[in-house]
Amino acid sequence: MAGLFDSMDIRGVRLKNRIVVSPMCQYSAIDGMPNDWHLVHLGSRAVGGAALVLAEATAVQADGRISPEDTGIYDESHVEAWARITRFIVEQGSVPGIQLAHAGRKASTAPPWKGGKPVGEDQGGWSPIWSASALPFADDYQTPLALDSDGIRAAVLAFRTAAERSLRAGFRVIEIHAAHGYLLHQFLSPLSNRRSDAYGGSFDNRTRIVLETVEAVRSVWPGDNPLFVRLSATDWVQGGWDLQQSVELARILSSREVDVIDCSSGGAVPGAKIPIGPGYQVPFAESIRREAEIPTAAVGLITDPIQAAAILESGQADLIVLARELLRDPYWPRRAAKELGVELEPPPQYARAW
Ligand SMILES: Cc1cc2nc3c(=O)[nH]c(=O)nc-3n(C[C@H](O)[C@H](O)[C@H](O)COP(=O)(O)O)c2cc1C
Repeated sequence: MAGLFDSMDIRGVRLKNRIVVSPMCQYSAIDGMPNDWHLVHLGSRAVGGAALVLAEATAVQADGRISPEDTGIYDESHVEAWARITRFIVEQGSVPGIQLAHAGRKASTAPPWKGGKPVGEDQGGWSPIWSASALPFADDYQTPLALDSDGIRAAVLAFRTAAERSLRAGFRVIEIHAAHGYLLHQFLSPLSNRRSDAYGGSFDNRTRIVLETVEAVRSVWPGDNPLFVRLSATDWVQGGWDLQQSVELARILSSREVDVIDCSSGGAVPGAKIPIGPGYQVPFAESIRREAEIPTAAVGLITDPIQAAAILESGQADLIVLARELLRDPYWPRRAAKELGVELEPPPQYARAW
């Protein structure tokens, strides 16, 4: 089994270790445009030694942004702004990746530090917002319109165009965001999908848009470049999307040229009871890896180097994804290496400190 500092080859891409920066919305863009904040935020984590730096949930359509301050790749002008960032990440010996996303019925909300609640047009928000069915996420959210078949086709095409732009922007990994109650997850979960057409009802119908999105992205994303999908392995709610369906979907995705399932959970509906604790989602990565026979990424309250190494060494996952711990310490990989007795070369500019 792999160690935390073993490399991993996925298609034509070599990750120098198993540490991944989790996509994290920064709510700091104007009109979808990444800027100096994103360069420093993502760049410093590349300097910190993570092998793969995944940029935040980046909208494929303007009305699919979670907040007016989300990054996007829905306009040609975004490409060069992202390219500046990917060039820097590559210069640090890390691999730049992007999470492509559509917020669906969770669109048009405020950043968490401004309350996170839906915002109207006076605060940069928009209407309508879209989903699988005309069901609001919560009482105080806008009621979305259900996408018709043309709308679904447009959303899938937007993922394809975004993938093509991501390539030109220098990204080497795409992660499709099908978790946390955003648009693709809204189709997967029976809690948010009440459709009676080809996109609702049975497992095959609810997963259709995800498979179409994967196919559309893969049609422009070179065979050399890895494709990840982030799933919420369970809604943590009776009658919702669950681990068994995730395993089944992961098995299909593995046959559709998806390389890694990033195993998160929750987000479909408010109020789910989630037993949060250290490594609480790791068992999902383990089950999906074993039962669907596809590499997995483990995420969620992984903070300690020994804990991270043990997850890999026990074969529960292939990659370790960290979010908040890397906000607290962008140099976590260097600290982990020291703790695990591994030599990690610092950037030459910092060599005198090591
Ligand atoms: C500030 C912040 C922003 C986040 N934004 C995203 C995002 O854009 N996409 C996503 O899939 N998850 C997002 N998440 C969830 C994280 O990627 C991660 O799955 C979660 O925080 C659990 O990992 P942790 O315990 O290491 O923080 C975000 C989390 C934080 C703290």
